Amino acid sequence: MSELNRHVPDPVRDLQQITSSDITETDFLDLIEDKTQPIREYFTYYKCAIMEIETKFRVLNQQFSLSGETNPIEFIQSRIKSYSSILHKLEAKGVPLTIESMDEHLYDIAGVRVVCSFVDDIYRLADTFLKQDDITLIQMKDYIKEPKENGYRSLHLIVTVPIFLENEKRPTKVEVQLRTIAMDFWASLEHKLRYKKELTPEKLEMLREDMKACAEDSARWDKRMQEIRKKLEK
Ligand code: GTP
Ligand code: MG
Repeated sequence: MSELNRHVPDPVRDLQQITSSDITETDFLDLIEDKTQPIREYFTYYKCAIMEIETKFRVLNQQFSLSGETNPIEFIQSRIKSYSSILHKLEAKGVPLTIESMDEHLYDIAGVRVVCSFVDDIYRLADTFLKQDDITLIQMKDYIKEPKENGYRSLHLIVTVPIFLENEKRPTKVEVQLRTIAMDFWASLEHKLRYKKELTPEKLEMLREDMKACAEDSARWDKRMQEIRKKLEK
């Protein structure tokens, strides 16, 4: 069995061990602790990295509002990828199912989504964030300038941020997605609709066209809002 599988909690397997060897409750808890310890350790690094990145954006949000502007950030959402998504992605990439391989090949285990009011704010925030000397940019995908075929728009940054452990400074990868409220609204609903089951090819095509049209409409809203703000600033 692979390293990762060994450390992923598996209640059925653990239950079988209990019933077969009749172990005590304490033994059971020890067993769970012991089996999940290595992956929990990595997940703790990712959680710490998320805290670092969130704090950086919260600080920038405060700083921007000092210069007499309103706060550029509407809200921040963070998540850690689930065990099952991690396994599926490793399998899809055809890389070993080990914790080390997970750490090397997956860039989006820690994810931070920063939802902004205006498109300009996204670029200002991203620029300022990337200038910080402890942030290393690994990859940038600008789906605002070049939206995906289905209409998806957001600015994606893969970065590393150091986290300071007891005896070690550890660069940790985080995927940061910056988008406006309109982009987030579209992406959230598209995500829900995409998982609707058993759609006929005709319905799928209709959905694709409708979603693309909605994406273009929402891009126009973003542009208009940006223009209104510019007019007010003049
Ligand atoms: P993944 O294997 O899905 O991570 O794709 P990737 O490695 O090519 O990265 P990409 O930057 O294209 O997308 C990463 C993340 O952006 C996804 O996990 C989603 O959160 C978001 N995303 C990308 N494309 C879409 C889309 O078409 N719709 C929605 N709703 N979200 C998207
Ligand atoms: Mg992803």
